[in-house]
Parts: sequence; C-alpha cells; structure tokens
Amino acid sequence: EKGGFDSFMLKEISEQPQSVRDTMGARIDSETKQIVMPELKMSNEQLSAYDRIYIVACGTSMHAGLVGKDVIEKLTRVPVEVAVASEFRYRDPIYTDNTLMIVISQSGETADTLAALREAKKSGVTVMAVTNVVGSSVSREADEVIFTWAGPEIAVASTKAYTSQVVALYLFALYFAQVKGTQTAEQVAEIVDHMLDLPEAISEILADSAKIRDFANSIKDVNSLFFIGRSLDYAASLEGSLKLKEISYIHSEAYAAGELKHGTLALIEEGVPVIALATQPDIYEKMVSNIVEVKARGARVLGFAVESDNELIKSVDEVIHIPATLPILTPVLTAIPLQLLAYHASVARGLDVDKPRNLAKSVTVE
Ligand code: M6R
Repeated sequence: EKGGFDSFMLKEISEQPQSVRDTMGARIDSETKQIVMPELKMSNEQLSAYDRIYIVACGTSMHAGLVGKDVIEKLTRVPVEVAVASEFRYRDPIYTDNTLMIVISQSGETADTLAALREAKKSGVTVMAVTNVVGSSVSREADEVIFTWAGPEIAVASTKAYTSQVVALYLFALYFAQVKGTQTAEQVAEIVDHMLDLPEAISEILADSAKIRDFANSIKDVNSLFFIGRSLDYAASLEGSLKLKEISYIHSEAYAAGELKHGTLALIEEGVPVIALATQPDIYEKMVSNIVEVKARGARVLGFAVESDNELIKSVDEVIHIPATLPILTPVLTAIPLQLLAYHASVARGLDVDKPRNLAKSVTVE
C-alpha cells in the first residue's frame, strides 16, 4: 500500500506532480487559459461583491492560507485576513455584508475549523471550504466547496494536501480576479501557463534531492535551527519549520527575515544552521543583507534560490535551486525540498516518519 516507498510520507511527497495536476485539472480551460469553477453555486455577481475575506484554518492548512492571502490580495486588491481557527472561533470577528469566509481543511473534520465555520454561518456569513475529503463535515456544512484532488493523505505530516491547497487558492484567486475584472485575460493566461509547468518542476526537484538529504543528515544532532524569509518566502518558511518540528523533533523557528534584528539575531552563534529562502525578486537585496548578517555571526546557511540565480552562492554555504517560475508560484516548489528536509532528518534520527509522537492525523477534539 506504500507503493514501494518506506513511508506514506515519502510516497505522498512523491505524488505531488500528480496531485497538483489533478487539482488544476478541469478548472483550467486549455484553450483560453482561463479558470472555470463550475462547482461554485454563487453567481458571479455575488462573488464579485465580496470585498473582505477571512481565511481560517489550523497548522499546515493555515500556512497554505498565508500564501493564499498574498495572492488574493495581489490579484484582486481585496483585503484578506488569515486566522488560526482555535483563536478565531472565540473572537468577535467583524463581519460585513460583503465578507466571505474561506476555511481550509485537508480532513474536513478539524474541530476548531468546523466550529469557526459554524460560528460564521450562524452570523449569516457565506463560507467556502477548501478540503480534500468528499463527504467530510466541512464539505457538507460549507455553502461552497472547492475540493483539492490530492487523494488520501495518510502520513500525519501534511505534504501533498498543502501544495494542493495552495494551488486551489491560486485557482480561486485567479477566478475571483477574472470575475472582478482586476486582471486581464492575458494576465490570467500568463499565470496559468506557469501553473501548468508546476508538475514538471516538482518532478525535477524530486529527481535531484541528494543535496537536501545531505543537509538533513548534517542537522540531525543540532539543538535548534532557523528558517528565514520575506513575504511568500516567510509563509513557506513557517511551513518548513512546522514540518521539521513535527516529524524530526528538532526545534526550529521561522522568522520574517527583517525581524532578526529585533531579537532573534542574539541566538545566532557559530555553526547554527539557518535555512534562508531568497526566491522573491522584489525583496531579494534585503534578504541577502539578512543572510550576510547571520553569516557574520557564524551561521551555516543553506540558501534557496531560483534557477537563474548565480549570486546567492557567494553569500551562503550551499544553495538549493528551484526551477524557474513566477514569484507568486514559488511556494509550491520550495515546499518540496522543505518536506524532504523534514523527512530525511526524521529518518536520520531513526524516528517514525508517518506517526510522530503525541500527534493525530485529524484533530477532532479541541
Ligand atoms: O485536516 P486539517 O487540514 O484541518 O488539519 C489541520 C492541521 O491539523 C494539520 O495541517 C497539521 O498541522 C499537520 N499535521 C501538519 O503537517
């Protein structure tokens, strides 16, 4: 049932070219390169009226939401707030007549996410779910559902569900932009073209993972390490850090790189590993300055750069190159080596990759 893999996690990591392809599937019109979402029951008029969005989820699904926020805001200029479901459900959120709530849940059974959904519905807010499980509570109770077609995810650590969630949010963001008219058909088609290349790019990363495995082996005995990034790279860092903690039990923190000076830099000393994501061109120079700062304090830095970047290697110890894509799409690609890092670190420490201690796949109690 593990299809020749030693764990469900590795199997699921390897399935991502397919799960990403399936999630895009019939939602892209191959001729016009525009998005179609026949699953949405609401009219275009209704959709286009939303001017404020809450994205509510837990754990990895919340991290997918952080990527979704950036992209929805970029493409539509509609403000999006991302909230952890266990916080949100006890808040007194400000809903307007034109507020849309998006809940994200792989299992569709997470207690806090479901409770947040129910609270919102009670207040008359339209809830759209992004979920992987047909027939799940979330899918039944939400007003609208966008399924991620990732297939069953067995390992406790979420991998292919995350990349499918991110892709589903891109599709929604593009569709929302089409309907609102905030992006032209050409602009949508350009993003879609790059999205269609993602499965192949994921395959490329999977085929060339020796460097990340070696780095994972090299951190197996460290006490602590850091992930740093800015904007979408920060969102990706949060997910990389969670994955590593969850299955390797190595302590790590993800920081918005610009925050280092406000405290964390004090923790950098000789030999501390830092994983620095530098895939976003608009803040690239700022990222390099942050890397120089940690290097100067003795950090051992593994950088993540885009394929065409021959500069970053001058400031770091080693570089993982990500195949070329649009900056907004890189989180789908950086996720892969970050998942592999967690996987290999867990294996190197002799741990149960699929069933980390203290955790359940689906958190159905609060
Ligand atoms: O099923 P859900 O997406 O609602 O689950 C949310 C979190 O419990 C889940 O993503 C958790 O953080 C993962 N184990 C992380 O790998």
